[in-house]
Formats: sequence, structure tokens, C-alpha cells
Amino acid sequence: MFRRLVSVFTTKCWVNTKYLQIRHIEVSIVGAGNRIGSNLALLLTQNPKITKLNIYDDDDRVRGIGLELAYMSQGPKVVSYAGDNFLPAAVRYANLIVMVARTPRRSGMSRDQMLAANAPAVQKLCKVISEQNCDAFLAISTNPINSIVPFASALMLQYSTYNPFKICGITHIDTARCRSFAGNALNVSPRRLQIPVICGHSEETIVPLFSNLAPSTFSLDSCKSDTLTRLLRKAGTEVINHKYGEESAVLCMAWSIGEFVERMVEALSGYESVVTCFSANPHFGTRFFAGPTMVGPRGIIHVCGNLPMSEYETSLLNRSIPVLNKEVCSGENYINIMNEAGGLKRT
Ligand code: LMR
Repeated sequence: MFRRLVSVFTTKCWVNTKYLQIRHIEVSIVGAGNRIGSNLALLLTQNPKITKLNIYDDDDRVRGIGLELAYMSQGPKVVSYAGDNFLPAAVRYANLIVMVARTPRRSGMSRDQMLAANAPAVQKLCKVISEQNCDAFLAISTNPINSIVPFASALMLQYSTYNPFKICGITHIDTARCRSFAGNALNVSPRRLQIPVICGHSEETIVPLFSNLAPSTFSLDSCKSDTLTRLLRKAGTEVINHKYGEESAVLCMAWSIGEFVERMVEALSGYESVVTCFSANPHFGTRFFAGPTMVGPRGIIHVCGNLPMSEYETSLLNRSIPVLNKEVCSGENYINIMNEAGGLKRT
């Protein structure tokens, strides 16, 4: 038995080492000219496993950001691409494509307005990925994630390139905020804590599971968990309010996407890793669902299911699922709206 375990272990290590030796991880950031994208690009230059970083934006100024990053005398080779004509080259050989292009949420903006504002850029990207590099992993942080990821998936299906294991929405921001709130409440470093956050990414669908707080030496009573849940659901809007309603979160978004990318790069290099993301998941009565997700060299390995929950968390989840279902349907149906407007031609 022991020998078998050793042999399984050695095989796994060999496989991992092999991947590590042969893989060069190329990452593309789409929307690198905006504040999230440029901060993310800076963070990713610190990741030694990324050998090439492509930064793309519609806006020519991304070339300036590219020059700045290239002057730093360490890190990956950075190449900048500006304008629609260069989008194919920007994503063609990437293992991981991170979509951060977006119209930022302003106060009073509805989810439908955000979907309408951001869908064309997502559509343009999905079309190019389908034609140039449908094996890449596509991670989207463009809001509203609950609708945009189903929209992008429906598009890929229309282009016959949909792979549910290679597309997700990045919801690491919710675990990052959750860990920081719990760390403050418990007076411990958030780095030491793990808390699953599930369901979706909007005020009515974020469901943190404080009852699963790890390590189990720490715990929060139900009153505290309830307060922190409310804080977490409002956290994005609070940032907007403090910025006079003009801009949503930037720095913590870049940081949390950076954490997601770090784990994805680990996975694409041959190691299993756990990310928090919103992906196809049939276990909760919806087609898409967010939560801790195991990823490996070929994308998603396991989506979350069956997590223990307190009574409060169960009732919160039961109230959130119908809202999430509605937002998923808006995204999937949005391709009909774009089809009617003639926006989905494949030429
Ligand atoms: C957030 O949670 O702060 C982000 O999703 C940004 C936004 O647009 O709300």
C-alpha cells in the first residue's frame, strides 16, 4: 500500500515537473489600458512563471504602459497591442486570457445597463478567441459577471467553441474582502483565513459561508456573520460612494484578479489549485454558480457542490438563487438582442 502511494506520488511529481519544464505560460490582459488592467499588468510582472505578458486595449495609450513595463529590468517579456486589428495577435498564443475591459459601474447604474455597456467588448473578444485560440482559458472580470459569463458562454456555443471547463468569471474579490472583514473581526491576519464565498457576484447573490471559516480554531458567532455578510454584499457600492459615485473598485480588484491569475498559472503549469470563480455548475438549481473551484492544466477539474451551511446561510442561498437565475437568463438572452441588432455576424 505504502509503495503504491509512493509510486502515485512520484508519478504525480514527475507529471508536474514535466509540465513545469515544458510549459511557458503566456498571459493576455484585454483592457490593460484601464486602471484595473494596468495595475494588474504591474502585479503580473512579478510572477516568475509568466514568461510572456500581452497587454491589449482599444486605446493607443496602452503602448505607453507597455513601454513602462518593459523598462523594468525583470519579469516577463511584455508586448503591447492597441486597436481591434491587433486583438487576434494579442490573444493567439495565450494560455490564459484575462478580460478586464469594462465600463466601470457608477452609482445608480443598473445591471441591465452594465450588461448593455459591456456586452459588445465581450462579444468582440469571444469571436476572436473562437477564431484564433479556442483552447485558451478565458477568465472574465467584466461586470455584471452573473450575466456576462452566461452571455460569453452562449456566444462560444454559437461559435461552436464552447468549453465549460475553460471559461469563468473571476470572483476572488469576494473572498479577498471576506477574509479581510473576518481578519479584522478576529484580530488575525487575513492571510491565515479561508472562507468560501458562493453563488454569484452582486449585492443580492453574494453568499459568504462564515460557518466554513478555516482554520477551525477561529469562529464567528451568527450575529457577527450576519453583519459581515451585509458589509460584504455592499462593499463594492461603498467604494463607489466614497469615490463620489464616479468609479468602482480598482486596486483591490487588480490585487484579487492577480491572486486568481497566480493560482491559474500554477494550475496551467501542472499543479492543481483552488480559485474562486463563477462557472457552469448544475449542483444548485442554476446553470452557473460561484464558489471554490479546483483547476488544473486543462482548466476546471471540480466545481463546488455540497458545502455544509448554517441555517442562516441556507436561507440566504435560497433567496439568492432565483435572483441569480434571472441574471443568468438575462445574459443568455442578450445574444438574441445582439443577433437582432446584427451584432453577431461571423465575418
Ligand atoms: C466590486 O465588487 O467592487 C467590483 O465588481 C466592481 C464593481 O463594478 O462593482
